[in-house]
This record gives sequence, C-alpha cells and structure tokens, in this order.
Amino acid sequence: MADNAQSPGSARALGTSIADVLASDARPAPAPLTTHAYEFLGDADLPTHRYTCDDFFQQEMSGMWSRCWQWACREEHIPTVGDHYVYDIGPYSVIITRVAVGEIKAFINSCTHRGTRLLSEEGPGSGQGFHCPFHGWSYDLDGTLKDVPGHWDFPHVCEATHSLQSVRCDTWQGFIFVNFDIDAKPLREQLDVMPEHFSHFPLSHRRIRLHVQKALPANWKAAQEAFMEAYHNFTTHDAPTGANAQYDIFGPHVSRFIHSLGHYSPEALSDYPGDKWRAPPLTEQELLAGLPVEQRQLAEDETARAVGAQQLREALGAQLNVDFSAASDSEMLDSIEYHVFPNAFFFPGILISMAYRFRPLDDDVDSCLFEILMLEPLAEGATHPDPPEPVYLEVEQSYTEVDELAWLGAVYDQDTSNLQLQQQGLKSSRKGITLGNYQEARIRRFHLTLDHYLAQAHLAQGSSDG
Ligand code: FES
Ligand SMILES: [Fe+2]
Repeated sequence: MADNAQSPGSARALGTSIADVLASDARPAPAPLTTHAYEFLGDADLPTHRYTCDDFFQQEMSGMWSRCWQWACREEHIPTVGDHYVYDIGPYSVIITRVAVGEIKAFINSCTHRGTRLLSEEGPGSGQGFHCPFHGWSYDLDGTLKDVPGHWDFPHVCEATHSLQSVRCDTWQGFIFVNFDIDAKPLREQLDVMPEHFSHFPLSHRRIRLHVQKALPANWKAAQEAFMEAYHNFTTHDAPTGANAQYDIFGPHVSRFIHSLGHYSPEALSDYPGDKWRAPPLTEQELLAGLPVEQRQLAEDETARAVGAQQLREALGAQLNVDFSAASDSEMLDSIEYHVFPNAFFFPGILISMAYRFRPLDDDVDSCLFEILMLEPLAEGATHPDPPEPVYLEVEQSYTEVDELAWLGAVYDQDTSNLQLQQQGLKSSRKGITLGNYQEARIRRFHLTLDHYLAQAHLAQGSSDG
C-alpha cells in the first residue's frame, strides 16, 4: 500500500475533485458550496467503549445531552397558540409550546409538586395549559402555576417558586432547538456557519413530506457515523461514486460532505478491488441513466449533470410550482450534507432534501432511533401544511415497506445493514476504531467535541463538589 504518512490528512483520491466538478458545472454553485475547510485532527484510534459501555452512555447523558442545543421539532408541529410538542432524550423530557403567535417557550415535562411527568407521550398535542394527573396541580400555557388544590397546606408555594421549570428554546430555519442548560451559550454559536450558508438554502420554506422513524440495533453514534462518510459507498452500496466526496469541518459543531451525482472519477477507484467501474468508464449517457430523470439521447457536447439538473428544474418546478431557474446544478443534484453536533443532519439540496436525527432509544447504549424527514420546497406564498404522522419501523422491518421512500428505501436498508454486526464486533474487539484522515475526519471532529462537553461537565461537577 502507498505510504501517505509524510503529511497526514493532505492526501486525496486521484481523479476529479468535487471542486473541479462544481467549477465545470453549467450553472455555478453558490459561495457556500465552493468553500473548503479541512484540518488534520489526529489519527489515534478511538476506544470502543465509547460505543458499548453503559458508564460512557451515562456520561453522555449527564454531560452532553443535558448541556447542548438539539433539534426537538419543527415549527409546523406547533402552528397555533396552545399547541405543544413533547421531545424526549434519554431520561429527559421537554414540553415545547406556542404561547403567542410569535412566541415559543419550553419547559421540563415534570410537575413542580412531586415531579410527575405531565404529558406522557412524545409528539404533538394542544390545550389551554397543563394539568398533573397525580394531585391536580395545573399550569397556564406559559408555564405559570395556575391552581394548587388544597392550597391552604402549601403557603410556601407560589407562581414565582413553582411555575414550570424553563428550558432554553430557539429556532433556526423552521427547526426548534432546545437546551436543558439554562446558562448555555446562544444557539447561534453552536450553529457556526449554518445561518450564513443556509441563507442560500431556506429550509424554513420546505414542508415535511414524509417522516420515518426506525429503531436501529446500534449505539446512536455508530449509526450516525454510517452517514458521515461516503467511503462505504463502493462496498455497501456497490456504487462507484463517493470516492471523491469533499469533507469540510467548519468548527467544533458543524461539518459537511458534498458527494456529486451524475459524475464519477474512475481514477479515484484505482486501489479499490475489481475492474467493474474502471474499464471502460461510464459514458455520460450511462451516468444520466443513473439519475432519477426522464431519459433522452445526449448530444456529443452534453453532460449528464447539466441535462439531469435541467430536467429536475423543469420536472420538480412544475410538480411543486416552484421556480428553480436560479438553482445551481449542484443544489439540484448533489448529496450535500451538513452535520450539526450532536445528532442532526441537514441537506440543502433539492433532489436530496431532508433532515436526519439520531437519538439513543431510552437508556439503551446498544440501540437508537433514526429519523428521516423528507423535505420539499413550498410554492411561493404557500403556508406549511400539517406535518405527516411519523411512520414507525421496528428493527427488523425494511425501509422498502415505506412506498414514499421510492428508490431510497433500498439504499437505507444497505446503509443500516452493517450496524448490528458493527455493534457486536465493537464488543469483542481488542483494539479501538481506526479512522481515515480525510474521509472520516467528521467522525473524529464529532468525538473531539463530545470529549470537550464531557470534560466541561467534569470540571463543573468538580467545582460543585468541592
Ligand atoms: S405530582 Fe403533580 S400534582 Fe402532585
Ligand atoms: Fe450510504
């Protein structure tokens, strides 16, 4: 094998880069897609106990999940004053409620009398306030303590001391985020380049077309890491694309990959096994056949990307009543995936337009919930329709059971097919996991940031103990 150790992280796959592809596109990409941000962050193995050990899982709960911003729901889940949404993460639960037309608040889902959970199920609902099923304490929509049956026995209880405990809450592009740490820095800091980049890609003006939830038999980090690199494409998806994907790390909380469709570089596969994708390389006509667009004979000077992107502009434009004439080829076609620490992915593309979220399932280190929200641009002037009910799949069910996922169903089955084996293998391994310096750099960045949260929590614990 070639030795790339001289300058770790500087090596790239042979062949055409994403920057080259985007630079030769018929419709040029906007500034965020032509930026690059990578730095070498080390190449030491990561210990497997991070994925398998209950103690580490509990550290994540108390040190990270309770202290960082996390996407809880979309604004269209609570469109009307009085609507609420319950979001659960591990042992923690929060009620997010629309208290006025332009005002959202969040509270810990727990009665201030003896702690009873107020709303039992995760998900949306509505009402004029909250009522505890145990002794009947009640609260206004804005969390203010309203009524205490037998108040004569509670002279020490009043609105100021016993209203619902507030949780930090903020919005970005139609997503509602919460943070249990009332002293947390603003959401904007955690979002880093996201507001600037997504000023080009307004996700607030997309609707949820489909929401799929599936239990997966792996630690939540292992599951999301299967979606952070395209290195697996050749083997897991038997696809020649992805070897030239671009990886960017914009800061501790935000990373990205760009993986181009309608193009691939045979040179990039020079050290992958077999000749299947190398000789002869796919023609532009064959590349067009790989895109979900109407097929036609290409002229000599036409490319699959330019024609595919234009077909999508026209077909999706007519279907959705949206003008895509200003959208670049890359936005129309590519898999562009931003990750926001700790667990959310946002895709600004038009064909590949979605958001993902990975969470632990209850308190189980070995399983998680993977949610896919397929997003769709709204017509000019249209308002958000009610979001669809989530479709829930058990561990053993196939994504192909969800018709609306179309060709993506089989792809998600492939993506999740290795997870149980990986979770099992991690438990018997004597060594840590090894990461590629470039293609798996986002995974390393994630773990460094996780360590930072755990160290901060440890420090805070130390100072409160002593
Ligand atoms: S625990 Fe809620 S009213 Fe007693
Ligand atoms: Fe994949």
